[in-house]
Amino acid sequence: MTEKEIKIDFQEYKSIDELNQEDKELAQAAISAMQGSYAPYSHFNVGAAVRIENGDIVKGANQENAAFPSGLCAERTAMFAAGAAYPDKAMTSIALTGGVMGRICATPATPCGACRQVMAQYQAKAGKKMSVIMIGKDKIWKFHSVDDILPLIFDSI
Ligand code: THU
Repeated sequence: MTEKEIKIDFQEYKSIDELNQEDKELAQAAISAMQGSYAPYSHFNVGAAVRIENGDIVKGANQENAAFPSGLCAERTAMFAAGAAYPDKAMTSIALTGGVMGRICATPATPCGACRQVMAQYQAKAGKKMSVIMIGKDKIWKFHSVDDILPLIFDSI
């Protein structure tokens, strides 16, 4: 038996002003994307923004539906739009934030498992790391790769 360890490094920032210019712009896009949230059931608004390798930004927001499983998270709304619009380009970063009535939660919004799986596959498809930036009012977390938030992804087929 060998003891193994998975180590996760990530950075915590006090505000988006501490981020580098590119990440700050992406964070601001995620915050503004919250305005597109349609959440009549949960009343929880999520905004996401994907950075494409050519510098473009694609936004998304959570969309709910009376037939609950028909709705979609902000991150997947953004990634699927990005995947459809830029099929041959890598998504190099994704930022997300969440809150109620447009007020961002103190602790960063963290992506659900399904969204992490989709991030992992787009990262694998591109063969380039996708960083993940989770934005809260009081702190921001930055992970340099999707592997850090979804280790041991299924990739056997
Ligand atoms: N939601 C997201 O948009 N992203 C996540 O990663 C988790 C949850 C949305 C789905 C639903 O509209 C609302 O937040 C409450 O779960």
